[in-house]
Amino acid sequence: MDNFVFYAPTLFSFGKDTEKDTGKYVKLFGGKRVLIHFGGGSVIKSGLLNRVKKSLDEYGIYYVELGGVRPNPRSSLVYDGIELCRKENIDFVLAVGGGSSIDSAKAIAAGAVYEGDFWDFYEKGIEVQHALPIGTVLTISAAGSEGSPDSVITKEEGMFKRGASGDAIRPKFSILNPALTQTLPAYQTACGITDIMAHLYERYLTNTTEVETTDRMIEALLLAMIHEGPRVIADPDNYQARANIMWAGMQAHNNSCGVGRSQDWTSHDIEHELSALYDCTHGAGLAVVMPAVFTYNLKHDVMRFAKIAHRVWGCHMDFENPERTAKDGIKALSNFLESIGMPKNFAQLGAKQEDIEHMAHSACFGAGRNGTIGGFVSLNQKDVENIYKLMI
Ligand code: NZQ
Ligand code: ZN
Repeated sequence: MDNFVFYAPTLFSFGKDTEKDTGKYVKLFGGKRVLIHFGGGSVIKSGLLNRVKKSLDEYGIYYVELGGVRPNPRSSLVYDGIELCRKENIDFVLAVGGGSSIDSAKAIAAGAVYEGDFWDFYEKGIEVQHALPIGTVLTISAAGSEGSPDSVITKEEGMFKRGASGDAIRPKFSILNPALTQTLPAYQTACGITDIMAHLYERYLTNTTEVETTDRMIEALLLAMIHEGPRVIADPDNYQARANIMWAGMQAHNNSCGVGRSQDWTSHDIEHELSALYDCTHGAGLAVVMPAVFTYNLKHDVMRFAKIAHRVWGCHMDFENPERTAKDGIKALSNFLESIGMPKNFAQLGAKQEDIEHMAHSACFGAGRNGTIGGFVSLNQKDVENIYKLMI
């Protein structure tokens, strides 16, 4: 296991009706003038936005609103938000919604106190060290942004989807009420489950040895998703299944199970090109990308793929032919994702073969990249093209 520093001081308020305490927590973390940031309208329709505003009113907290965040959030709204924060002297950014609203809020919070262009953090890999404090009221279990120091934004010029990171944009508090996810369409619920599983796989695929504790944590969270996923798809009002998924989603990505080990992130980098170009849902893209990446990288460490196949998917461990076990595990993952309604190939994502070269080039060279991606296996543009071809 490698040395590490782990500092994840987000306060989580978990459970039914917890959004009524939003004002209390904004006040606790010093917010007096708040930007409420949200998406395309689900929080208006559900009444959540009104409940959040009522809670801020109860604590005498001033707020302005900026809605309209799209899934795969765009840079243009971030610039609008930064301008609004400066004009209104905002001292706290509150995201009400999913990963897209939270990531856009993080970009605004970082950009509002930065003299340069906020995109520097995303393109140049500069760590975000200063930002307005952020709080979240989460409405979908998926991206894990509610507990992560990360934000992913799409720059419209060039359609580059890139991430920024820094403890300054880790939320001060996150309100996690699983009941709020009951209004999600089944497809979005399934996309969220897929994203959570991807965050676990990205950490499982490591070149660091002797990491049994975090291996076991990842395996446990994957097993929980395999158990709870089908239950919630069959019964969308199952609060307990949604509660377990919501907490797993946070743990999958606040890095508690990723410390002390190298991580991969190939599937995410390859997927981000798809969701940038075709605006497909991140989780749906990952469902198509992951089996292709794992198949391509399998020979790099057959035993690692065989281990997850055996421990998580219950595949027979074939010591004579561990490659067979490893492949069975990838097949089991594919079958599971298909069973919860995820797409399997390029066409189902609306992706086109003629864009493969462009996407592979963008993944490897675009917006600050130096020609290779992948923390598990170093892949060049040709490799990435081959992986996209496996998805056709
Ligand atoms: O915009 P509204 O109207 O709110 O609708 C959203 C959106 O259409 C809807 N929705 C959310 N909660 C709902 C709901 N509809 C009904 N009832 C509810 N309770 O669902 C759709 C998807 O929302 P979005 O916020 O885009 O989902 P998600 O949380 O999956 O976020 C995806 C974004 O997060 C990024 C992805 O790349 C993508 O851009 N990621 C962020 C990460 C991070 N910050 O750490 C890591 C991830 O790997 C990921 O890359
Ligand atoms: Zn993800």
